[in-house]
Amino acid sequence: MTNGLKQFSLEGKVSIVTGGGRGIGLGIAKALAGAGSEVMLVSRTETQLKAAADSILAACGRKAGTVCADVSDLASHAAIVDATLKRFGHIDVLVNNAGSNIRKPFLEVTVADYDTIMQVQLKSVFFLSQRLARGMQAAGGGKIINLTSLTSKIGIPNISIYGAAKGGVFSLTKSLSLELAPYNITVNAVAPGYVRTAMTEGAFTDPKRQEWMLSRIPLGRFGQPDDIGNAVLYLASPAGDYLTGEVIFIDGGWLSS
Ligand SMILES: NC(=O)c1ccc[n+]([C@@H]2O[C@H](COP(=O)([O-])OP(=O)(O)OC[C@H]3O[C@@H](n4cnc5c(N)ncnc54)[C@H](OP(=O)(O)O)[C@@H]3O)[C@@H](O)[C@H]2O)c1
Repeated sequence: MTNGLKQFSLEGKVSIVTGGGRGIGLGIAKALAGAGSEVMLVSRTETQLKAAADSILAACGRKAGTVCADVSDLASHAAIVDATLKRFGHIDVLVNNAGSNIRKPFLEVTVADYDTIMQVQLKSVFFLSQRLARGMQAAGGGKIINLTSLTSKIGIPNISIYGAAKGGVFSLTKSLSLELAPYNITVNAVAPGYVRTAMTEGAFTDPKRQEWMLSRIPLGRFGQPDDIGNAVLYLASPAGDYLTGEVIFIDGGWLSS
């Protein structure tokens, strides 16, 4: 391995990827496993986790661990950490990727809608990071990587709760980077533009919305899970050691136009 490639190696590392069972999370898990990391996939659906672990084995020759858990339930966090430690012995990287969305006009949003999205998109990120950071502090360091979105910077109609949560993740990334730097824990985020997944399928099946989205992307194509996975790999690997508190927008140039 050349020195340049060594900088992107995760040999001997262990990564937890929440929402790693499909979509962007699976792209991230494949990038990390491909660079040598053991990966623990977390989602609420056993069958999805098994299929994801099989596809990582086929793509990278590495057997991923799986934990079926709802990250919105803070009581599940201890089980996620325990299962990872039991299987792999230590934890070096946490990717807070699990998420969902509710599309609704602001005037129709209910308290239940608000709680559902905030719990998965912000509260779980806050408290799972806190739990993992305690272990990373004791271990001498680690990497926390959050998923935020274009909506942390710009308004997009009908996803007000999602936008508020992702704005919170942007801000949380900044403040945790300061508090955790003394423990050699870096905290960064990636903010994908539009990637076709189960979450965004509605936007992609509406020709008008698809045309509107594409018209805003200077590179002229939508993002792929691999585009996001490669950026997360950089942040997780030694190549990204001197970066903290940054939010990388992977949007084909959307925010520059
Ligand atoms: N797609 C985009 O264009 C886009 C753009 C910007 C940001 N993002 C962000 O990227 C992340 C991944 O999104 P995606 O597009 O890949 O969505 P996706 O295909 O719907 O995948 C979401 C993943 O999270 C899991 N998940 C959802 N709620 C969960 C919970 N409460 N506990 C545990 N796991 C849960 C899902 O599995 P289960 O439902 O089985 O639990 C699934 O594995 C999200 O944070 C999203 O906000 C996406």
